[in-house]
Amino acid sequence: MTVSVWRGKEEGGYEEFQVPFVEGQTILDLLTHIQRSVDSSLSYRFACRVGMCGSCAMQVNGKPRWTCRTLVSNVVQNDRLTLEPLANLPVVKDLVVDMEPFFDKWQEAKGRFEPAESAVQEFAPIKPQDKQRAKVDEAIECINCGCCYAACDVVESNPAYLGPAALNRAWSLINDAKDFANPERLKAVSGDGGCQNCHTNSQCVARCPLQLNPTRSIAGLKKTVALATLKGEI
Ligand code: SF4
Ligand code: SF4
Ligand code: FES
Repeated sequence: MTVSVWRGKEEGGYEEFQVPFVEGQTILDLLTHIQRSVDSSLSYRFACRVGMCGSCAMQVNGKPRWTCRTLVSNVVQNDRLTLEPLANLPVVKDLVVDMEPFFDKWQEAKGRFEPAESAVQEFAPIKPQDKQRAKVDEAIECINCGCCYAACDVVESNPAYLGPAALNRAWSLINDAKDFANPERLKAVSGDGGCQNCHTNSQCVARCPLQLNPTRSIAGLKKTVALATLKGEI
């Protein structure tokens, strides 16, 4: 196969590598082959190699994908592949992006669990069949890979937009009976970069490797923000 790989930072160019096709090979295997056997200066990121850590995402033939679980045979076209750093994030080097803006937005969306005000407060037991808990059964499985963020055209056009992953995280916490920061969180997700910017075209859903549905989470946020506004709570 011919694999075209982005080299450099924001400024750079594509370098072509000839890589043997091996049955069952993933995109990450292919990069490991290039780094070990052809060019040890190639930079890319991974950790778990089994679809748990979310660190290996990049653009594969123009689409964000987790590379440790993407089989080459499923994406190769005419014996060619193009690999680029994840879109909508600054490039550090080659296929490595700076995830700081992505996680800054989690902070802006108040994506951190805030426990009970008092250490002696009763711990809320939550049953799996609880209605509020069931609303976020999917959303809590996010592995922070950034594929949805890279696929979102609103993120691309509006740097202030919090993006699907941070809003999905806020939705998880808003439905967590053990969390105590919802008024501030609702304000955070309804500001200039908030949930109302989402135009619901579900590109984030299409690209999530876990088939999660950030669009649905954002719709839940929009409704909750509207109700809180009507009640004068925010
Ligand atoms: S549905 Fe909303 S968050 Fe998802 S890609 Fe579209 S604009 Fe972005
Ligand atoms: S919602 Fe899906 S695509 Fe987005 S960061 Fe989480 S796991 Fe990745
Ligand atoms: S290396 Fe961890 S998800 Fe791919």
